[in-house]
Amino acid sequence: MLTEITQKNLNELLKTAQRDELIWVSGFLSGLTARDSLSAPANLSALSSTTAAPALAPTLALTQCTIVFGTETGNAKRVATELSTQLKKHGTQTKLKGLDQYRLTDLAKESHLIIVISTQGEGEPPAAARKFYDYLYQAADLNLSKLQFAIIGLGDSAYPLFCKASEDIDNQLATLGAQRLFPLRKCDTDFEPEVQNWLAEFTQTVVYSNTAPAALPAGQTSAKTGKKSYTGTILTNLNLNDRDSNKETYHIEIESEDEIVYQAGDALGLVPHNPAETVDALLAQLGLNADESIDYKGTHYNAQQLFTEKLNVQYLPERVIQAYARVTAQTIPAERLDLLALLTRYPTDFASKRAEIIASLEAIPPRLYSISSSPLAHGNNEIHLTVSRHQFKTPAENGEFIEKYGFCSNYLAQLPEGANLNFYIQANHQFKLPSAETDIIMIGPGTGIAPFRSFLFEREARGDSGRNWLFFGEQHFTSDFLYQTELQTLLETGVLTRLNTAFSRDQAQKIYVQHKLLQQAEEVFNWLEAGAVLYICGAKDPMSVDVENALIQIIAERSQRSPEQARAYLDNLQEQGRYHKDVY
Ligand SMILES: Cc1cc2nc3c(=O)[nH]c(=O)nc-3n(C[C@H](O)[C@H](O)[C@H](O)COP(=O)(O)OP(=O)(O)OC[C@H]3O[C@@H](n4cnc5c(N)ncnc54)[C@H](O)[C@@H]3O)c2cc1C
Ligand SMILES: Cc1cc2nc3c(=O)[nH]c(=O)nc-3n(C[C@H](O)[C@H](O)[C@H](O)COP(=O)(O)O)c2cc1C
Repeated sequence: MLTEITQKNLNELLKTAQRDELIWVSGFLSGLTARDSLSAPANLSALSSTTAAPALAPTLALTQCTIVFGTETGNAKRVATELSTQLKKHGTQTKLKGLDQYRLTDLAKESHLIIVISTQGEGEPPAAARKFYDYLYQAADLNLSKLQFAIIGLGDSAYPLFCKASEDIDNQLATLGAQRLFPLRKCDTDFEPEVQNWLAEFTQTVVYSNTAPAALPAGQTSAKTGKKSYTGTILTNLNLNDRDSNKETYHIEIESEDEIVYQAGDALGLVPHNPAETVDALLAQLGLNADESIDYKGTHYNAQQLFTEKLNVQYLPERVIQAYARVTAQTIPAERLDLLALLTRYPTDFASKRAEIIASLEAIPPRLYSISSSPLAHGNNEIHLTVSRHQFKTPAENGEFIEKYGFCSNYLAQLPEGANLNFYIQANHQFKLPSAETDIIMIGPGTGIAPFRSFLFEREARGDSGRNWLFFGEQHFTSDFLYQTELQTLLETGVLTRLNTAFSRDQAQKIYVQHKLLQQAEEVFNWLEAGAVLYICGAKDPMSVDVENALIQIIAERSQRSPEQARAYLDNLQEQGRYHKDVY
């Protein structure tokens, strides 16, 4: 198809071009092929954006832009940083900022803004973007008519409100008068290839002015990318707490015939199944046979499978309750109920309304669990979790409280050996081990120990020389010292250099990991000054906040810094990739 000389030129280009240059070329070529008027030789002469190509060289249209990111676990920051680097290479001046640092009053002055934002919770923006998000809805007289914007949303299509925060911001900016520079791009968990596609299309249609626009889909695009699903079998499911404990924490080992591709620091995601008795009761209430075929959002299920594996029937969000109220033409107060309670308290003619009721239900959102095994030490066909059976109380109608278990942790806690479950891997690109010789300090009370068990076994298997220091805490030494024997062996073999434990209820005064950190202030600071990487995992509130405050106190006291300077020291560690949090 190509002449020898063209082939040679092309090979030369492919050999020497950087990845981002090739992406640009790919976008540029697709634009050229869409333009009938251009002849082939002239097109090829315009390939490079950096070398001179006078006749057809595209001219830079986007000379400057601000890129902001809203992130919880760092993905949006990584994407925003990559966009900034790539756009700079094309000659666009970029300013990069986290939305928590962004001056809200600057928004009306911006001309070009790219927003990369994830969705958290139940369709909410990440905590760091909350102020920005609220500002858009609350600043009544905000006029954004000067602003042109483009948004990349990061999310997980397994959640019912896929990329909702990015959708909200996209709509609200338009409502406030801003113009879309490019349609909203919603990316699933495997977002990297999609971001590269976005970049190629954006470069071609927005960054340069005289390239032909690629055929872009109208309106919003939703990128569904393949997330590999594994089927596993439970090998072991063991309560690590003693009988007298207030807690139940399960060490769960899962085996898969497929090689499980993951790294220490990643999480496992899964969708729990509804209990059989709940499913039976719902089918009876709705008058459905277990094997009746039902279409739900374009896929056929039998009724039993749909209600067991797909539909969220527990603790329905208010929007679902209100959707039911609309379908059944009833007034239902704003509250959260299980589906069975809703159908019983607010009955309707189920035979005629069934299809609409089912269509208004949402999918079960997945839950994530930090992986506590190491691929190197435990092999690629096995994966371990450390799951706390979540307990909470809800008020009953008689004014008393009912003890309840969390949906997914209860499901996992009850899985017997030999049971099957489906799962996927949720990579965490931030929470990773450093180079072999770097020291690490791990603060992981409760189930926060999970990724650190993985780190310790991984480092042992790799023979890393860096020192490892673990802070672990729980309620009682005798009943709650998770993985005690393993940790003691790791101490004896020298893999674990130091282990500090805090058992909060073994004495009159509560002692937590942050108190142990403060007791070790001098050594902690010495390790940090010597280059150690810090990790916190476990409960977001109050643990991670208290630990962070203790770290700031240690840094301030040991280096005669003000609390603000100590915070800046910690921020700087984070910037350098030496301070990571995986908290929930
Ligand atoms: C990155 C990441 C890693 C994680 N790693 C781990 C880990 O290693 N180990 C671990 O144990 N957990 C981990 N978690 C937490 C885990 O994902 C789940 O959030 C946890 O197990 C609780 O889920 P659940 O389904 O059991 O509880 P849910 O059923 O989702 O309940 C959660 C809360 O919802 C409310 N609620 C639910 N139902 C009702 C109701 N009927 N009435 C009133 N209120 C209700 C309660 O406030 C309850 O506390 C991690 C989370 C993340 C994001
Ligand atoms: C607890 C939790 C809740 C989430 N809720 C949603 C959601 O409602 N909708 C969605 O599309 N993605 C949801 N996600 C997926 C994240 O948006 C996705 O993992 C994203 O890549 C995270 O990017 P970040 O690291 O920049 O925050 C949720 C993730 C977690 C851990």
